[in-house]
Order: sequence, then C-alpha cells, then structure tokens
Amino acid sequence: MEWVPCPSPSDLTSSECQTVLDLFWNETGEVYSETTVRLLPVPAWSGNMMLVNKEHEQPVIEGVLWATPFKDDIVRIAAFVLHRRHQGKGWGTLAWERFVKTMVDEGYGQVQLEVKAANHRAQAFYQQRGMSIQRELVGYYASGLGYMMRGPLRA
Ligand SMILES: CC(C)(COP(=O)(O)OP(=O)(O)OC[C@H]1O[C@@H](n2cnc3c(N)ncnc32)[C@H](O)[C@@H]1OP(=O)(O)O)[C@@H](O)C(=O)NCCC(=O)NCCS
Repeated sequence: MEWVPCPSPSDLTSSECQTVLDLFWNETGEVYSETTVRLLPVPAWSGNMMLVNKEHEQPVIEGVLWATPFKDDIVRIAAFVLHRRHQGKGWGTLAWERFVKTMVDEGYGQVQLEVKAANHRAQAFYQQRGMSIQRELVGYYASGLGYMMRGPLRA
C-alpha cells in the first residue's frame, strides 16, 4: 500500500467516488452522495492524497486525506479517513507527516479541521500532533456536537 497524490474529488471516477462514500459512511458515520463529494471545496493540488492498495488488479482506495487552502496561512483538512483494517498501524501518521512537509514547503503555517465531539480517537491523534480545540460546532454535524481544531503545522 502507498499514499499517492489524489485528484480533486470532482475528478474521481464514479466507482472511486463510491469507494470513498463507503469509507465515510463506515468509518465516520457521515452520509455523502456522489454529488456532495464532488462538490467538496477541494481543489486539484498537492494537499490531496489517497492510500492505494495495489495488490488488486484494479488499485483500490483504502483511505483519503483531502485538504483545501483556507485563509491567510491556514490549510483546512476536509476529509481524513482510512479503512478500519488499516487504522492504528501508522498509515495515518505517515500521511500526516507527508502532508505537513508539503504544506510547510507551500508556505502554510497552520492546519484546521472539524471533528465530531464523540470521536475521541481522532481528537487524540490531532492533539498529539499539536492541534487543540478552538470552539464547539453546533449544527455542523447532524449527529451532534462537533469541534473546530487548529494548530501549527509542525513536523
Ligand atoms: C484518525 C485516523 C485517520 C488516524 O490514522 P491511523 O492510521 O489510525 O493512525 P496511526 O496508526 O498513524 O496513529 C494512531 C496511533 O497509533 C500508533 N501507532 C503507530 N503505528 C502503529 C502500529 N504499527 N500499530 C499500532 N499502533 C500504531 C501511533 O503511535 C498513534 O499514536 P499517537 O497518536 O499517540 O502518535 C484513522 O484512525 C481513521 O481513519 N479513523 C476513522 C475516521 C476518522 O475518525 N477520521 C477523522 C475525522 S476528523
């Protein structure tokens, strides 16, 4: 498996889109449609990666990290998800480290994202990497409270 550059969600094939929809649903409980994934404000740029399993005849997407330039020196992560069989094995850390290096090289200084309040594991992952909760998000997630987290991009 390997993290490789990923196109903008708007340029994914229909079957790639469906794979990502299944990842979102199974691993985060968030429901997206092909249209809403394609309309995510994620450009074609160096901030997007996908974890690809090349053991299959047709490479399979096993995870994505998608980001978007936000404002000033802030980059926002729009999606970060791995299939559960690959969680807790360092793949997320690998993506994070590559992402941070790429974004620092591009001149960004901070990273921001939204996370469900109930998702303690992801919050711990981000806190371990220098991010902290900035504010509560009410009404952002249909399932309940969320947090906006931000921190310096640091190796
Ligand atoms: C959050 C997520 C992207 C993190 O990726 P991950 O690959 O599971 O994370 P890692 O395995 O790299 O790191 C998790 C912890 O396991 C540890 N770890 C690293 N290699 C490991 C290994 N081989 N075996 C077990 N644990 C390992 C890491 O040290 C890390 O601990 P730390 O945070 O204290 O450093 C992933 O768990 C995921 O997709 N979760 C579901 C979706 C989700 O919640 N997304 C975030 C939405 S905001």
